[in-house]
Amino acid sequence: MTPETVSTDAARDALHALRQEVGKAVVGQDAAVTGLVVALLCRGHVLIEGVPGVAKTLLVRALARGLTLDSKRVQFTPDLMPGDVTGSLVYDTRGAEFSFRAGPVFTNLLLADEINRTPPKTQASLLEAMEERQVSVDGVGRPLPDPFLVVATQNPVEYEGTYPLPEAQLDRFQLKLTMPLPERDEELDIVGRHAAGFDPADLAAAGVGPVAGAAELAAGRDAVRRVTVAEEVLGYLVDVCRATRGSAAVSLGASPRAATALLAASRAAAWLAGRDYVTPDDVKALARPVLRHRLRLRPEAELDGVGADGVLDGVLGAVPVPR
Ligand SMILES: Nc1ncnc2c1ncn2[C@@H]1O[C@H](COP(=O)(O)OP(=O)(O)O)[C@@H](O)[C@H]1O
Ligand SMILES: [Mg+2]
Repeated sequence: MTPETVSTDAARDALHALRQEVGKAVVGQDAAVTGLVVALLCRGHVLIEGVPGVAKTLLVRALARGLTLDSKRVQFTPDLMPGDVTGSLVYDTRGAEFSFRAGPVFTNLLLADEINRTPPKTQASLLEAMEERQVSVDGVGRPLPDPFLVVATQNPVEYEGTYPLPEAQLDRFQLKLTMPLPERDEELDIVGRHAAGFDPADLAAAGVGPVAGAAELAAGRDAVRRVTVAEEVLGYLVDVCRATRGSAAVSLGASPRAATALLAASRAAAWLAGRDYVTPDDVKALARPVLRHRLRLRPEAELDGVGADGVLDGVLGAVPVPR
């Protein structure tokens, strides 16, 4: 199917269906699921943070199964080398020359699992490919497929044996999604599904199947480009970003690039919700995932336990909302 054959409504239906497919495997975690769909529409990369065992890996595996896109998963271990991600030149004895063997980054959806368990050099090879959408080996740039989306997972940085991602490069992720521990009723649902035979290793048996692909994403992206933003709502978005710079707990606030990322995410969320215009609530809903990893907090604030989300809650509570 070419993008032209998919209507806007069909594209939106397909992406809602994608959420339902994911829901066959993952209980709750709605904000993370929505964030992933928003990122697909924005060509944005995603970082997912959560303690072990909250279904970070399961969520991305289910998403990949719900899409008719090529996907690969790389477990980032302490001994993973840059070439294990990007690929490398191999010597072909028959032809007596070097040829490029493409690494797993040459895919549409890459699950970079536990990215902070691997040393900085290997992280950097992925971060560079994310930014440039190509891999340079031996002076030759090799373009990555389109769409190309990285979903990286990590444990909170206070875990032992982790290499925190370089702060200056965190904004290559459009969104940072956090997956909390489930509420009691959700946990009962999780355990109940397992009691009824759910096997997270066998998503096919759980009925998770492909419902959306490149055509739907292309049509969705076209429609998102037509979502309008009123002058007052743009003003609100800019004021939210600017207010992060004035916060006492923050040493480096959101950049203008962060503001444009927030605009893109808000438009995608508006379209997913069935509107062709952005509301202040769209901006509010996306401000935490778009901005939380782009603020540098003062050491005093970290000591006081004020996290980025706390700062953003304060900002969202203080900036006047247009009506
Ligand atoms: N919200 C959830 N919905 C469904 N299963 C869950 C959920 N949270 C945890 N689980 C169960 O716990 C397992 C741990 O998931 P996993 O994706 O490996 O976690 P993580 O990658 O966050 O360490 C899942 O395979 C599933 O059996
Ligand atoms: Mg995992």
